[in-house]
Amino acid sequence: MRNYLNNIDRRLSRIIRTIAGEADRRGLPAYIVGGIVRDIILGRENLDLDIVVEGDAVALAKKVAQAQGAVVRVYPEFGTATVQWPSGVRVDFASTRRESYPYPGALPRVAPSAGTLRDDLFRRDFTINAMAVCINRGDFGRLVDEFGGLPDLRGGTIRVLHDRSFVDDPTRILRAARFEQRLHFRIEAATLRLLKKALRTKAVDNVKPPRYFAEFRKMLSEDNPAGQLGRLEDLGALGLMDPAWALDIRLLEQVCKRWQRLPVKLALEYRRSRWLIFFMASAEAIGGRQLPRILGKFPLKKEEKESILQVPGTRPLLRQLAVPGLSRSEVYRILKPLTAGMAVYLRLRADHVGVAERVDRYLTRDAGLRPDIDGEDLKRMGVKPGKEIGAILSGILYQKIDGELKGRRSQLAAAGAMVPGREGKTDGPHQTGQ
Ligand code: CTP
Repeated sequence: MRNYLNNIDRRLSRIIRTIAGEADRRGLPAYIVGGIVRDIILGRENLDLDIVVEGDAVALAKKVAQAQGAVVRVYPEFGTATVQWPSGVRVDFASTRRESYPYPGALPRVAPSAGTLRDDLFRRDFTINAMAVCINRGDFGRLVDEFGGLPDLRGGTIRVLHDRSFVDDPTRILRAARFEQRLHFRIEAATLRLLKKALRTKAVDNVKPPRYFAEFRKMLSEDNPAGQLGRLEDLGALGLMDPAWALDIRLLEQVCKRWQRLPVKLALEYRRSRWLIFFMASAEAIGGRQLPRILGKFPLKKEEKESILQVPGTRPLLRQLAVPGLSRSEVYRILKPLTAGMAVYLRLRADHVGVAERVDRYLTRDAGLRPDIDGEDLKRMGVKPGKEIGAILSGILYQKIDGELKGRRSQLAAAGAMVPGREGKTDGPHQTGQ
């Protein structure tokens, strides 16, 4: 018998053995299941471990966490628990379960402890995600492949386990495209027919938009978002996000390519917004009138929404940024009202090197500059609290950005000259610094 857990990541291996020891002590059949099994066989890194046990998963999780000093979170409504290790390994514990869908597209109703391992595997999306590996003593590392996952993995095939799969859970339509593109697999012919048939049923309308969004966001987080969304378009499935969803694939491809060539410092700083930038690129074809309604359906943070809503201004902004002879402070004034995400987006949409450089300079340097004097300094000069303070400080900042006012001393003098009635006066006791 081949041991599928022979050559796995050491962090995983140690944790699996601990869980296995505890399961054995309790006499519980325990398995690793789902995507991690697929990735172990493919040799792809994955530190999200799913464990199912034929028995009480929550009690096992608590015991393992306690013995290891790891953090456990219990979800009583689902009968599941998650244990997080400081090394980055995360383990989800669940009892083998059978699911039923109250109506097509609804979240499954879970009957904990009511199923066998086979039931648990049968409720899953694709054969390649429906394998398990036993971790009990005597059986450690044995593959359980009831539905032909291994040959499909070797043959590069995405295949559902039964005809109702996409109707039960239409988010699997996006998942099929995602795994196909990620792994360079092919959706098998009968599965493709079922997928297309499901798209014509009412089941797709029963799914809550945030569930589609979660899968869409995962697609945008993959290595090749343009390939991902291009495939969704081929399948006629972009409309799952919204009937008005449109895509300019060339534009998305270009933004993806330019992201790869982004200066390392920027790519690192904005890596958490990577998916958002690609969302913006895919939203550019939609048009400003539809966007607010569409975004209202999805769980987006305020700043993410703001960034996307600024996208329809892309072309006029790029034209403004291309005007010859712009000073750095003029570039600053164009970009400052925008979100950082939108500034990065403009950088990636810029066809002219000069425009890209202007945005780079803003992002890496000018956006973070502040005047070396503050409101208190101005109050001491007799400026009343209010708008004027802001206006003077901005004026000083613009000159600093343009390299004209380097230190505090020159900024105080310049501010003094801007205060009505103080022109020409020098500052005495408060003037400190260079
Ligand atoms: N699953 C499913 N149907 C879904 C979502 C998930 O059957 N709509 C099952 C699959 O067996 C999947 C497992 O739950 O392997 C875990 O789901 P998830 O973490 O979303 O996917 P992974 O396969 O782990 O994919 P990734 O590598 O992208 O995390």
